[in-house]
Amino acid sequence: MANSYSSDASTSVLLVGAGKMGSALLSGWLEQEGAWAISVADPFLEEDEYRQYEDAGVTFIESPQDLAVKPEAIVFAVKPQQLKELTPAYAAIAQDALVISVAAGVRIATLESLLGERTAILRAMPNLPAQVGMGITAFFPNKRVRLAHMELSERLLGAVGATLAVTVEDQIDAVTAISGSGPAYVFLLAECLEMAAMEVGLDPEAAQILARATIAGSGGLLGMIDADASQLRESVTSPGGTTHAALKVLLDERNGLQQLLTKAVLAARNRARELGE
Ligand SMILES: NC(=O)c1ccc[n+]([C@@H]2O[C@H](COP(=O)([O-])OP(=O)(O)OC[C@H]3O[C@@H](n4cnc5c(N)ncnc54)[C@H](OP(=O)(O)O)[C@@H]3O)[C@@H](O)[C@H]2O)c1
Repeated sequence: MANSYSSDASTSVLLVGAGKMGSALLSGWLEQEGAWAISVADPFLEEDEYRQYEDAGVTFIESPQDLAVKPEAIVFAVKPQQLKELTPAYAAIAQDALVISVAAGVRIATLESLLGERTAILRAMPNLPAQVGMGITAFFPNKRVRLAHMELSERLLGAVGATLAVTVEDQIDAVTAISGSGPAYVFLLAECLEMAAMEVGLDPEAAQILARATIAGSGGLLGMIDADASQLRESVTSPGGTTHAALKVLLDERNGLQQLLTKAVLAARNRARELGE
C-alpha cells in the first residue's frame, strides 16, 4: 500500500486502547525506531504512562478529528463492549485504512456493520507473551484485505512475535482456546508444579523457584530447538527412571493430562463461540 498519508517514511498507525494488549503492541512498534508514526487514543492512561509514551514520540488524540494525518492502519485493542460503542466514531477514517481488531469474540460481520462493508478489516487474536515480544497472533482477513494490507498487518502484529493466518473465521474460536487462553494453562501448570513440590518436602520459596525456572526454561528450549515436544520429552525419559514413573501417571489413557486438557480446551472454544454470537 502506498504511504500516501504519512508526512515522512514512517507508516502512520492509530492505536485505540493502550491497556495490556495495546501497550504490548505499542512497545513492539516503538522498538522498531522510525518505522511507525504512532497516534494513540486512550483517555484512561496514568499520567506517567502518557509522559513515557510522549517522550518516545507517540501523539495522543482525544478523538479522530485530532489526527493530523489519516492513519494507514487503525488497531482497536479495547474490550469487546467498548469496541462496539466507540467504532462508529472511527468509521470515516477507517474507509481508507487497514483496521485490525484484537477484541475477543467480535466477528468480522459485526465489525463490517460498525465500520462499513468496504473497509479492509483483519480480526486478530494475539496472546499475552506479546508483552515480551514472544507472542503469537492468529488472524483472519475480510474480503477487502489486499496483499499490501497483509504485509502491513504482518509488520504490525509481527512486532510482538509470530503470526499465523487462519483460513476460516470460525478457527479464531479454536485459536482463542489454544494460544489466546493458553498462557493461563501454562501458568496453572507452574502453580501445580509448585504445590506438588511442597507436597514432596520442598519449602515454598524453593518450590516456587524450581517450578518457575522449569516452566520458563522448558518453554525457552521448545522455542529454540527444532524438535517436536514429544522428541524433547522422550530425550529426557529413561526407561524405568524417575521421569518415566511420572509420565505413566500423566499419560494415563483415561484420566491423563491429554484428556483433561482437551476437555478444558473444548470448554474455552465453546465459550468463545457463545461470546461471538
Ligand atoms: N490481554 C490479553 O492477553 C488479550 C489476548 C487476546 C486478545 N485480547 C483482546 O484485547 C482487547 C483489550 O484487552 P486488554 O486485556 O488489553 O484490556 P485492557 O487492559 O482493559 O485494555 C483496554 C484499554 O482501552 C481503554 N479504553 C476504554 N475505553 C476507551 C475509549 N473510548 N477509547 C480508547 N481507549 C479506551 C481501557 O481503559 P479502561 O481500562 O479505563 O476501560 C484500557 O486502557 C480485548 O478486546 C481482548 O479481547 C487481549
